[in-house]
Amino acid sequence: MYNKGTIIPGLMIFIVFVTFPLWYNRLSAGTVPKPDLPIGQKECVAPVSEMRDNHMKLLNQWRDAVLRDDDRVNVKVGGKEYRKGLQTACMQCHTDKEKFCDTCHTYAAVQPSCWDCHLTPAVAASKKETH
Ligand code: HEC
Ligand code: HEC
Ligand code: HEC
Repeated sequence: MYNKGTIIPGLMIFIVFVTFPLWYNRLSAGTVPKPDLPIGQKECVAPVSEMRDNHMKLLNQWRDAVLRDDDRVNVKVGGKEYRKGLQTACMQCHTDKEKFCDTCHTYAAVQPSCWDCHLTPAVAASKKETH
């Protein structure tokens, strides 16, 4: 019939194996990214949970609105207006691309190509200094 001596250890190995992702993630929870949030600002252009999940879609919508439909309508956050755009809105508040955007992107291993053309605040500042 059954051999208890191999079934029980076998089951235990199976359970450890199947639950591996659960406890493995917990052990490495210390590395979850903590992006630097803007100081003195309370709100983003959309609720934070929506921004976390959908900021890439919003950026695409904005790009299409500006470039295809010539819709440059400003966005208003906390009573202040920003021109719809990556540099003209997002990076006005999120002034440190490295400590904000990159913190998550390095963790998630995504490398948006946006900065091939768009200037990060650090690059924009260094260009101003040389002129
Ligand atoms: C090949 C160069 C290039 C790349 C790569 C690129 N863009 Fe752009 N983008 C442009 C140019 C040129 C404009 C037009 C600027 C204008 O007319 O105001 C623009 C405009 C935009 C705008 C609207 C206005 C503004 O000034 O921000 C958004 C939003 C935008 N891009 C987002 C993105 C995002 C997000 C990425 C990465 C996923 C990206 N772009 C990658 C060249 C590029
Ligand atoms: C008016 C200033 C402002 C502008 C403009 C702005 N943000 Fe934010 N953003 C914030 C603040 C403040 C928070 C944190 C909000 C909170 O914690 O409730 C935030 C949160 C976020 C988060 C979530 C961060 C996290 O810890 O999960 C993302 C992603 C984000 N913003 C991306 C963007 C992008 C992309 C743009 C441009 C489309 C943008 N933001 C424009 C101020 C701004
Ligand atoms: C809270 C973490 C977090 C922050 C902060 C954040 N991102 Fe992201 N971003 C992500 C994740 C995760 C993905 C990948 C999502 C996916 O593949 O579905 C992503 C994807 C993107 C993409 C699409 C890239 C691609 O190759 O498809 C763009 C564009 C982007 N982010 C722009 C930005 C910009 C600009 C900032 C800073 C203003 C920023 N993100 C800040 C987490 C973040």
